[in-house]
Amino acid sequence: MNKLEIRTELTQLSFDELNSEDKKLAQASKEALNLSHAPYSKFKVGCAISLENQIIVLGANQENASYPMCLCAEGSTLAAVATQHPNIKIDKVAIHVPLETPASPCGFCRQSFKEYETRMNKKFDYLLVGNSQVYAFHGIDTLLPLAFSSKDLID
Ligand code: THU
Repeated sequence: MNKLEIRTELTQLSFDELNSEDKKLAQASKEALNLSHAPYSKFKVGCAISLENQIIVLGANQENASYPMCLCAEGSTLAAVATQHPNIKIDKVAIHVPLETPASPCGFCRQSFKEYETRMNKKFDYLLVGNSQVYAFHGIDTLLPLAFSSKDLID
């Protein structure tokens, strides 16, 4: 019998400690809150994804009166990347919630990021952005260890 230990590592930093490029992306994710449609939960989430060609794609949560139909900010932004820039890979993802401490993506969104990392054959950088703190990490495995992916279907 083997005991397997899975370690995960995030960097906690303040907005001011970000480099200028990350500040720009974090700021864009905050501005993306304006795209949110959240009349039911009143919980706005903004997302900004930078691509390898430097383009930044924005998205935000889109709620529906039929609650289960709500789209998360991350999913709406990933769909925009895939449909508007189909041949360009993602570099970095910033997700903003208007709270002091950053919130992390739901399980559904973690699985979506896993799919895009597999599709694009690379791990992305992530910034979870709150009003005063940021969590930074590399690769969605950080939040979703032992993730299921298309590679499991083939093996
Ligand atoms: N939400 C996101 O946009 N991303 C997440 O990862 C978690 C939750 C949204 C969905 C809903 O519109 C609101 O936050 C409250 O759950």
